Amino acid sequence: MGFDQYHEPPDELPAKTRTFARLCASLTEEAEAIGWYEQRIAVEQDPEALAVMRNAQTEEFKHFAMDLEFLLRRTPTWRAIAEGILFGDGDIVEAGEEAEGEAGLGGSGGGATPGSLGIGSLRGSGL
Ligand SMILES: [Fe+2]
Repeated sequence: MGFDQYHEPPDELPAKTRTFARLCASLTEEAEAIGWYEQRIAVEQDPEALAVMRNAQTEEFKHFAMDLEFLLRRTPTWRAIAEGILFGDGDIVEAGEEAEGEAGLGGSGGGATPGSLGIGSLRGSGL
């Protein structure tokens, strides 16, 4: 990974932004590991190897959740949107649009250009 998580010169970034970037990189790595174990488990035939890999994947679930919780605690807008989407029932996309609206961002990326992620509307929040 090296210093790939930075898109700006690290020495110009505040310490809290570098920490945030490290945890974002870690979150990505944990998600990748979960996906890799899912594929390995899907093809493995040895029951003992399967047990080991399922145990390892469970550890990655924990690591992912801890990384996510850290990031959400430091990003109120992200937390507000996540609270509207996570652990609910029903249509995920509808929940996302509603959560975005309730966070004061409007639907579909804060009413930005169609197809936009609405990142510009998040400028100045959280970080
Ligand atoms: Fe991990």
